[in-house]
Amino acid sequence: MEILGRGDTIRMQAAVASAERPLRVGVVGVGVMGSNHARVFAGLPGTELVGVADPDRNQADFVARTLGCVAVSDVNELLERDVEAITIAAPTHLHRDIALACIARGVHVMVEKPIASSVEEGREIINVARRAGVTLMVGHVERFNPAVEAIKEAIRGEDILSIAITRVGPFPPRMSNVGVVIDLAVHDIDLIRWFTDSDIIDVQPQLSSAVAEREDIALLQFRTASGVLAHINTNWLTPFKARNVTVATRGKYVMGDLLTRQVTECFGFQPDGSYSMRHLSVGHAEPLRSELLAFLRAVRSGAAPAVTGEEAVASLEIATRCLATRPTVVTPAQRKGPRAVVG
Ligand SMILES: NC(=O)c1ccc[n+]([C@@H]2O[C@H](COP(=O)([O-])OP(=O)(O)OC[C@H]3O[C@@H](n4cnc5c(N)ncnc54)[C@H](O)[C@@H]3O)[C@@H](O)[C@H]2O)c1
Repeated sequence: MEILGRGDTIRMQAAVASAERPLRVGVVGVGVMGSNHARVFAGLPGTELVGVADPDRNQADFVARTLGCVAVSDVNELLERDVEAITIAAPTHLHRDIALACIARGVHVMVEKPIASSVEEGREIINVARRAGVTLMVGHVERFNPAVEAIKEAIRGEDILSIAITRVGPFPPRMSNVGVVIDLAVHDIDLIRWFTDSDIIDVQPQLSSAVAEREDIALLQFRTASGVLAHINTNWLTPFKARNVTVATRGKYVMGDLLTRQVTECFGFQPDGSYSMRHLSVGHAEPLRSELLAFLRAVRSGAAPAVTGEEAVASLEIATRCLATRPTVVTPAQRKGPRAVVG
């Protein structure tokens, strides 16, 4: 039998006490994404949503009234209220400054994806957080989608050959200052790195801007260090949302719909072309709730978070490399051009 010394007992008591005391959390930027962070935080056990900060006072007041917390106009006012952990869901170009303000006060940070506007700013956040000893996690929420978890489990130990991801939909109601690669494809770049446990070493992007100033269509091809070929098809020109993932391994073909959360695998390929097929069991948890629970676990334990700043910067770096190719601007007249010549 192991006998605990006095120091161990005190450490255990401290751990129990901190597990029982609610963690004081806040959200900076309560638009579409941040109001969901606030809603989920407000319902999590062991967490007290202290307040939300947004210069849009109508929006901040509305969220605060609905969830029973304080509304303030900016991050510094929230930091005055002794919050211990914060989600940053303000526009991406503000992530760096807000993150540095939080970290300077020793506050743990959950920052929405992409981690920052540039790889350099992302690295700065990582370095400052490391020096301060605070937890930094990035909101690549798709990793917590139960369909994605089921795919990851289905391909565990398999020899992955290729991955194809489609993420299309209509234009977002409010255009930000980024195109589809930074806004949407960065999710899938992260998934490709996560599914393969490997870095992307080769990038072949095709970009086009059909309607927007920035790229609104992207077909991106990659090769990972482990030899997997991957492809992302993304755009803002499809009238409905679709999010599909297929993974071909030497022994399986796995198909997942990330919206309906149906995941199917084909396996047992026979020389006569026959094979077996089965639907996999997929959980029902809300991805954002699972993500924030993972963040809080990392804060409480001091262990590395589920999505580190380094991983987020690696994905942002690949997205940025894709953008080194200027999008082709295709006008309707140009589309008709070659046909006119042929006809
Ligand atoms: N993980 C995902 O799936 C996902 C989905 C959507 C957006 N996002 C990310 O979330 C972030 C916000 O996107 P959104 O779609 O919610 O945008 P949004 O425009 O709906 O919300 C942003 C909010 O930030 C507020 N804001 C502006 N300046 C601020 C400041 N200085 N301090 C605090 N708040 C400020 C705005 O008033 C607004 O309410 C972006 O980084 C985006 O990339 C992630």
